[in-house]
This record gives sequence, structure tokens and C-alpha cells, in this order.
Amino acid sequence: MEKLIQYDPKQGLFHLSNTRISYLFSIEEGGLLSHLYFGQKIKRYHNQMRYPRIDRGFSGNVLNHPDRGFSKDTLPQEYSGSDAGDYRVPSFVAQHANGSRSNAWTFKDYKISCGKPVLAGLPASYVEQESQSETLVVTLEDKVTGLEIDLLYSIFRDYDVIARSSCVRNLGESSVKLEKISSMQIDFVSQDFDVICLPGAHANERHISRQKIDYGTKRFESRRGTSSHQMNPFIALVDKGTDEHSGQAFGLNFVYSGNHLFEVEKDQLSQVRVLAGINDYNFEWELKPGAHFQTPEVLMAYSNEGLNYMSQTFHGLIRNHIVRGRFKYEDRPILVNNWEATYFDFNEEKLKPIVDEAKELGMEMFVLDDGWFGKRDNDQSSLGDWQIYKKKFPNGLEKFADYVHQKGLKFGLWFEPEMISMDSNLYRNYPSYLMSSPNRQPSSSRSQFVLDMCNKEVVNAIYHQLKNILDKGYVDYIKWDMNRHLTDIYSPTLPPSRQGEVSHRYILGVYELLEKIINDYPNILFEGCSGGGGRFDTGWTYYMPQSWASDNTDAVARLTIQEGTSLAYPISSITSHVSAVPNHQTGRECSLEARGHVAMSGVLGYELDLTKMTANEKILVKEQVNGYKSVRHLVQYGTFYRLKSVLESNESAWLFVSENKEEALLMTANILSYAQPILTKTKLVGLNPDADYELMPLLSDRESDHSVGYFSSIYAHKPIAIGEVFSGSELMNIGIYNPIARQDFNTQMYYFKAKKQEDLNNEIQES
Ligand code: DGJ
Repeated sequence: MEKLIQYDPKQGLFHLSNTRISYLFSIEEGGLLSHLYFGQKIKRYHNQMRYPRIDRGFSGNVLNHPDRGFSKDTLPQEYSGSDAGDYRVPSFVAQHANGSRSNAWTFKDYKISCGKPVLAGLPASYVEQESQSETLVVTLEDKVTGLEIDLLYSIFRDYDVIARSSCVRNLGESSVKLEKISSMQIDFVSQDFDVICLPGAHANERHISRQKIDYGTKRFESRRGTSSHQMNPFIALVDKGTDEHSGQAFGLNFVYSGNHLFEVEKDQLSQVRVLAGINDYNFEWELKPGAHFQTPEVLMAYSNEGLNYMSQTFHGLIRNHIVRGRFKYEDRPILVNNWEATYFDFNEEKLKPIVDEAKELGMEMFVLDDGWFGKRDNDQSSLGDWQIYKKKFPNGLEKFADYVHQKGLKFGLWFEPEMISMDSNLYRNYPSYLMSSPNRQPSSSRSQFVLDMCNKEVVNAIYHQLKNILDKGYVDYIKWDMNRHLTDIYSPTLPPSRQGEVSHRYILGVYELLEKIINDYPNILFEGCSGGGGRFDTGWTYYMPQSWASDNTDAVARLTIQEGTSLAYPISSITSHVSAVPNHQTGRECSLEARGHVAMSGVLGYELDLTKMTANEKILVKEQVNGYKSVRHLVQYGTFYRLKSVLESNESAWLFVSENKEEALLMTANILSYAQPILTKTKLVGLNPDADYELMPLLSDRESDHSVGYFSSIYAHKPIAIGEVFSGSELMNIGIYNPIARQDFNTQMYYFKAKKQEDLNNEIQES
């Protein structure tokens, strides 16, 4: 098997490569590490990437080096220090006992090994066989301060990804105060990049933003204690011309759920530095002599085939090397959730008919959302009291879960384990569990407060409360919610000088709790949630294979949200529900078909009072559920392509292709309808050009159900019909006309199946 990492001592060169990508860096004089290249595979390297040394005014020299062109301020580096001649944004800042913030790294040693190390206490990519990856650890030292730092690089054999992190050790005799420690750095020489990021808000998460990188420093960050709705921990640097299908993209996906920071700086020479790691805002960490600090990792993906390939790389990597446990490859159940159906106003009797209906319609799981515990009738109380609310379940929750199970459905339950209400027994008995700053009223958000997850006692108390319920064995799924962000960042468990550790220790406490729970209950499926998609990050995916993408269930809004989410996260992780109209967030009325098609393009669920649907609606939902079951594996685990973006046009188109290219599912959406519409087509990609694909029935054609005024059908033109056969090359090069409908928010779903050779032979014989 070919080696993935080589060191050439003659050139002082490290070369990480698989069959498609290369990453190169060198050891320069004085032990400085210089970044050389990240991109398509380089077969043989002839040293031509070494950085030209030119004397630039006011960019000082490396120590007393005679060459005035050799400067830390201009050299593309692998990992920068601070206050030592490089004026660009630093990767690392620590303050030493003497007050200095001068940190200068030089090469000490390296080690190459098979496989990939575990990052203790942190989520990280992993391999099942050592041959799937190789790891290089480069150790840098600062002889003056006594610090050493390991730069970890793991390259995957089958994915165009390098995972990077860093780990600093204090070998000195005094404590050091860490103020910033990035997980990775890359310095690109003079690249005219755009940066893509995923900003948003509650109920409006992860819409794609593309910006020119200009002089100065851009920060993409969260200071909210979680990865947040507001800025997802993902960015991509792309060439100007990069689109979905062509061009270079460098994707950076941070495996962390707390405060994050991506910095992109274009310097005096138009060189671009990119850093990613834990946010330095409100961060300090005391590193005692002998102690170490390990950062979370960043997954760096390279694509020379546009954004779709970059996304597919992340999808594959996350599915195979981040998601753990039995649900890794399992088809995810179709659920009904009672939140938008009842909100807090439910009891056992009100829920049972919804369960009955879910069974009738072919659904596979009932999820009981917020309001089943403590004395919770609204969002003002009971968080932290994870005991059954007797008023709503007089016979106990177990009895109700039995009812659900007897119907043949799984039973799911909502929790919000990191939170506390002031009106709760937990607060009355243990007020110090609530995170607050001394002498200050903690600020509430949704009338609730955050637990001090830095405190091991708190983590344990919540663990035991959850265990009390989960040990009964009736819970098959947990929705783990978090409905506010952190404020009053303070923990009495730490001395005043170490309060800068609280934000990171909070998330370490949550990870510890999660690790225990998922190990204790390997058969429970977890769904992440934070007021919708406020914690949709790769770190979370290590514990929870799927996450609720947004509290916004409107199908049109979801086109933007799910498209943005798919940039970095696999479809198997994106949950999407059909809800009632008018939509509770936007007030929009979309057809049940459109709501179904969009939700079927993720992990499908329903979130409405099923008992209130008409007979016709029930027929359609039954078809959606059955149809989805037959294509679910393709949707959740197939190769996903964004073909058209609603951000750029009146249309959206998404495609799912099976690995063997024998199946393809296309979802198209037209947002507004016009009287004299412009004709548009959708061209498929990734099919076998020589295969013949038949349009198969997935959902019946319900055209006859609709009429518009004088017309008997909403369609002025519907181009293709079930049973028609197209060659792959035809679908990819000519494409299919999009239908013309007299209806806003019109969507279509086409399921193509390649015809088997025997079928074709029979047909030829028959004719
Ligand atoms: C926010 C979630 O996103 C909703 O789905 C629901 O679970 C509520 N919290 C319950 O409070």
C-alpha cells in the first residue's frame, strides 16, 4: 500500500498525499516551517515552490539572519507565534510569567505513524483500520519559554481531507497563560479568493454567503458558547470562477461545538492567511508546568471539481469517520413529532389519536417533545426536573410509551439537559448549579438559564436524572435541545484568574456527559437540536448522527436552509419535517406535495396534528411515507448534488445518485409562477451516460386534484411522464424541461431507475 506521508531529509520536505491531493511544507533555516502547497496531487516535487526571498521594508528578519529577504512577516508559514516578527494574525499567543507575549517556534522533531490518534475528551474524526489514514506529528519548540507544540496532520487515503489540530505542552518551570491557540493555519501566496461562509439566525440558519477577500482581516465566529445559528463553524476559500461543478475549493470544517473563530487575512503582499480554532474571545487557559492543551481538529478538504465535490467529500468523511455507533449506516426512521401539533398543551389522551394516525400512515416513530416533565405547561418552568409530569401522564410515561410500542412505533423523547429554570426543584435545591457572575442577576433567555457544565457535580446530577429514565428501557430516540446561548460565563469551581477557561470547559463538560450517555445506551438514536439548527456542527455529529436543521419548517425557507447545510453536512444528518399550513413561522401556504418533496430531500418527519388532516391529505401523506421508504437509502446515503440554487434564481434543484449510478432522485422547485414563463431545463449529472433510465412512479400524479379558474389543471405544460425512458447522456446533456405550473412554490420529484440489460433485451424481442 502506498505511503501517504513522506519526509525528504535532503530538502527538509514533508509531503502528505493520497492519489488525488498533496500538501507540502518545508523546514527552513533556523527551523521555521514554511507552507508550500495544498492542492491537486504533485507527483515529484522539485523545490520550485520555495518562497522567493525579497527584501521588503519594515518586514524584519529572522533573528540575525544576514539575508534581509528572509522574514517571518512575509514567509508563508505552517504555524505562527506572536510578537516575534510576524505582524499578521497569530496562530498562537501565550503570556509568560515575566509578562512577555513573545512566542517563537522552531522545528524540533517529527513522527509519522499509521492511523489516527484519538483526541481525549474531544470529538474528532477516527479510522476503523490503520490503513485508512497516516498521521504526521511535527514538534516545534520555543527554548526561551519552555513550550513545545505538536502540529498534528492526518491524511485520509480515500477522502481528500487532512485533519489538523495542535497540542501545546509546558516544559518550563512556571505557569503560562494561553490566550489563543489555533488548530490550523495555512498561508496562501497571492490568491484571488472568495470566502464562503454560512451565517444565519434562529429559524433562518446557514444561508450561503460568498464574499470577496480583500485587504484586512475577516473574522467568522461565534461568541455565544455554542457553534450557533448566527455563524456556522465552516468556511471555504474558493477561486473566483469556482461554481458547483468546477474550480478549486478549500473547505474548513471545525469539529467543535463551542466558540469558534475563522480568520482570513489578506496582507500587504496580497497573501492570504487562514486560521481556525477556538475563539480567543473571553478565552484564557492556565498551563501549569507539565500540563498540555489539545485543540479540537479542523477537517480541511480540497476539491478541484467545485463545491459539489467538496461537499461530497465532507459528506463521505462525516458519515464514515465522524458518525459512530449502530446508526452510522442505518436508514433513519420516519417520525411524527408533537411540537407544532400541540406545543405544551397535551396529555396522554390527546396524543394517542396522533399515535394511531401515525401508525395508519406508515410512520415509524412517535417523538414526545417539550412539556412531559416537572410541571411544565409553558417555557417558564421545570428545566432540570427530569421527572414525569403526572398531570399529563397519570399512568406514567412508561405506559404511554408501551402504547406507542404496541402500535409498532418507536418512542422518542425530548430533553434539554444543559438548562435550568428558576422555577424548578433543581434550582431551589442547588442554586449554585445555575451559571451566573458574582453579584449580578444572570440574564434570562426564553425564561431559562444555563447550567454550570464545568462543574463535575452538575454533569453527574444531570447524568443520573437522565439515567433514571433511560434505564427503564422504553426510550428509542432522544432529541437533545438547547434553547438559549451562554451569558454570565463564570464558574465558582475555578479561581478568578482562570475564569477564561469556562466557555471551553462548559463544552468539555457537555461532551463528557454525552460520551457517557451514548456509551451506556448504544441503541438510542440521538438527534441534535438547539432551537432548530443552532448547534449543527461536525463535533455534535460525533455524538448525534442527525440534527434538527431549523425551527423554520416552511418548505420555501427550507430550500435555502437545507442547501446551505448541505455545503458541509451529509443529508443523513439533516432532518426535515412536513408541517401544517399556514406555516407557523412564515405564514406561507405551500401545497402538501411541496412540503413533502422538500422534507423528503432530508431525513423525513412530520410535525402537525395528523388527526386534523383531510382524507385526501392522508392518502397523499401515506404515499409520501411509502415513497420515501423506497428511496430513503438513496436520499440519506447517495451522492448529493446541488444543481440550481434558489439564492440565484427562481428555482432550486437537488439530485441524489446511487453509488452504482442505477438510481437517481431529482427534486426541483419553482418559487413564483409567471403568466409568460421563461422556459427552463434541469440537466442531471453523475449518471451513466450509456444507461437507459426509466421514470418510475414514486408518488402518484395528482394533477387531476387541482384546477385553476378556466383551466382543469394547474399545469400549462408537464414535460415527462411515468414510464418514459431516457439515456443518461440525454438527461445530462439535454436535460428535461421544467413544468409550467399556475401555482407558486411548485415542486416535482422524479425517480429514475436504470433499466437492466435483461429488460432491454426483452423489450427489443417483444417489438
Ligand atoms: C426548540 C426546538 O427546535 C423545537 O423543535 C422544540 O423542540 C422546542 N425547542 C421545544 O421547546
